Amino acid sequence: MSRVPIAGVGMTRFGKQSERTSRDLFAEAASIAYDDAGLSPADVDEVFYGNYMGELAEGQGHTGPLAAEAAGVTAPATRIESACASSGAAVRHGVNRVRNGDCDVALVGGAERMTNLSTAEATAGLSAAADALWEINAGMTFPGAYSLMANRYFHEHGGSREDLAHIAVKNHEHAVENDLAQFQRSIDIEDVLEAPSVCSPFGLYDCSPMSDGGSAALLVSESFAERRDLDPDVAIAGTGQGGDRMALQDRASMAASPAAERAAAQAYADAGIGPDDVDVAEVHDCFTVAEVLAIEALGFYDPGDGIDAATAGETAAAGELPINLSGGLKAKGHPVGATGCGQISELTKLLRGDHVNSDAVSDAEIGLTHNAGGTVASCVVNVLEVIR
Ligand code: COA
Repeated sequence: MSRVPIAGVGMTRFGKQSERTSRDLFAEAASIAYDDAGLSPADVDEVFYGNYMGELAEGQGHTGPLAAEAAGVTAPATRIESACASSGAAVRHGVNRVRNGDCDVALVGGAERMTNLSTAEATAGLSAAADALWEINAGMTFPGAYSLMANRYFHEHGGSREDLAHIAVKNHEHAVENDLAQFQRSIDIEDVLEAPSVCSPFGLYDCSPMSDGGSAALLVSESFAERRDLDPDVAIAGTGQGGDRMALQDRASMAASPAAERAAAQAYADAGIGPDDVDVAEVHDCFTVAEVLAIEALGFYDPGDGIDAATAGETAAAGELPINLSGGLKAKGHPVGATGCGQISELTKLLRGDHVNSDAVSDAEIGLTHNAGGTVASCVVNVLEVIR
């Protein structure tokens, strides 16, 4: 299918900024994207906005037009909600609209305000992305759900808490120079293993944090880019979305994520590539084990082999396939509705050469984002390609 150039990207710092509304966060991200693209709000034909818990955190529904207004736009605006995959899905909607010839310029992105809530309140809100009848009623939280998946993975394939710790250490290291990241500090294996326990086998550093933040991207048609002399360096070359049974208990295995496999298969076919062609990826490491499940589902590693990747240094900045050079959700932060497009923003800069960690992937041609909703009942994969 045709490529959709990314004319500009923008992202606020992710982190604790509880005094800021999500409309304010999205306005900042959109404003950075306009400047980056050399476009203005008047150019936007349509808006797709990812937001998960506006009602709970801010008493605010109908956040599509509100976000558009904050970005200076009265164009048609739709909120896309797919839990933590909301803005990955918003990007995908924008890609499809531009490809179909329905619009020339789509403003996509998302925002989330979380830290104005207590951890207990935010945890309860996030839990609503699981099955209310069968999981939440039984006391399920997301750290709990992913710890079940980690324990099942250990049972089926082997591996240990220490293997997972290498993922946290790596992603914190990647974020040290990233001024948009929530945690710009190195940690070591001992820090991870000795941190307070959250839910066995996870300690504090196995978890992504609660975060506030916004992200945006301007997707344009190739004809618009030519007409306006935009010359973007990176385009979306393929997109895919997959689904699965909602409740963990109904899955064939808790140690795999078929929704991600389906999303990846679709995105690879769409882009005309395979997993071996990918040079760098931003994946949804909401918990350390999620990075393992992601790199296996994406076909970078066989089932059972992904657990060793970080320990072997293969997914570090200097490794063969750098994963989460931005710091990932673990260290960059995870304002859920902003995360998917935040991955697009960071990866675009990594591929263009203007990210602080771009030197690690100076020859990269193909990048991939993997953005999961809930316990991967939904997943969006986007393939980015250098076009300069
Ligand atoms: N990684 C590293 N440090 C973290 C952190 C994390 N995930 N979460 C909090 N911290 C730090 C804070 O910065 C703070 O440090 P400081 O004392 O130096 O300021 C300290 O730990 C305490 O922070 P606090 O917010 O009080 O932590 P908490 O115990 O209330 O919450 C978690 C910690 C891990 C339970 C919480 O962040 C959490 O539930 N994360 C998962 C979020 C989630 O489920 N997202 C959806 C995924 S699908």
